[in-house]
Amino acid sequence: MSIDKKFVDKFINVSSRAALASSYLVGKNNKIAADKAAVDSMRNELNKIHFEGKVVIGEGELDEAPMLYIGEKIGTNKGPQFDIAVDPLEGTNFAAKNLPGALSVISIAEKNNLFNAPETYMEKISANVKDKGVIDLDFSVKKNIFNLSEYLNKKPEDLTVCLLDRPRHKKIIKILKELKVNTKLITDGDVSGALLVTNKKYNVDLFLGIGGGPEGVLAASALDAYDCYFQGRFLFETENDKLRAIKMGISDLNKKYQLEEIVSGDSIFCATGITSGDLVKGIKIKDKKFTSETLVTHKSTGLKKVIKLNQFINDRLD
Ligand code: FBP
Repeated sequence: MSIDKKFVDKFINVSSRAALASSYLVGKNNKIAADKAAVDSMRNELNKIHFEGKVVIGEGELDEAPMLYIGEKIGTNKGPQFDIAVDPLEGTNFAAKNLPGALSVISIAEKNNLFNAPETYMEKISANVKDKGVIDLDFSVKKNIFNLSEYLNKKPEDLTVCLLDRPRHKKIIKILKELKVNTKLITDGDVSGALLVTNKKYNVDLFLGIGGGPEGVLAASALDAYDCYFQGRFLFETENDKLRAIKMGISDLNKKYQLEEIVSGDSIFCATGITSGDLVKGIKIKDKKFTSETLVTHKSTGLKKVIKLNQFINDRLD
């Protein structure tokens, strides 16, 4: 089974509308309002589409997120059954402070094919390699670099590693410096960071480090369409995190997940720019129209491209 390609346009519309809604709050120094605008819009648009959807990655659980919470049923309840992962505003700081890289992100897979992840941190690694054993979360940083250097036929000093600029990554950054590897340190937005390995034009050979688990699942679904390598390991720090994970059906809390255990079967991924960043340009509004750019992938049809749309703000697709 695969997801009918007619859904591609529908989900591009969902992330574009969410990005538009959030764009009105760019630079207002209000992360919560910018996020809420994107969430409300996304939910509203999703509920117009004929499908039986279940949110597996969302804004939290019912008690902490009234909308798009994990487990929420979405869509008109008529049509195919999909699992949905959403990050209506990825990079809340970027939007609040009017910085590059805020995105509205959604990923859809066939029912039971998208990982039901709790909102904890995840250790992640991704690169544009197809073979197993080149990079691995269990390898040392040095081994990953040397293996990748050999695989890509590039010297370590010609490699670039992208990671979140966080104190928790100090040790990794120090090792990379000793190996003379270039770094691209990002202040936020590791969905985008992980996807920079997909194309040579971004000049990133490896993405690694600890970031949000939900962001890891979203990135994995796009990386799958690009045939890239990804591994993730959730980090459950508190007792509460552990209990929630067990409740979600995770029995081995230290498991290292391969991409195909996170997302399988067919999938659609859409990331629309709110502010311009590495992957896509941000929303532009002129008169009654807005322009959006969405990075979209559809695994079964091989679609992987940035789609630019110019639409009427009040135009409704039902
Ligand atoms: P938000 O959009 O929820 O603010 O997340 C931004 C982000 O940078 C993610 O891309 C990343 O996975 C996570 O935060 C990292 O978390 P932390 O800021 O706690 O290191």
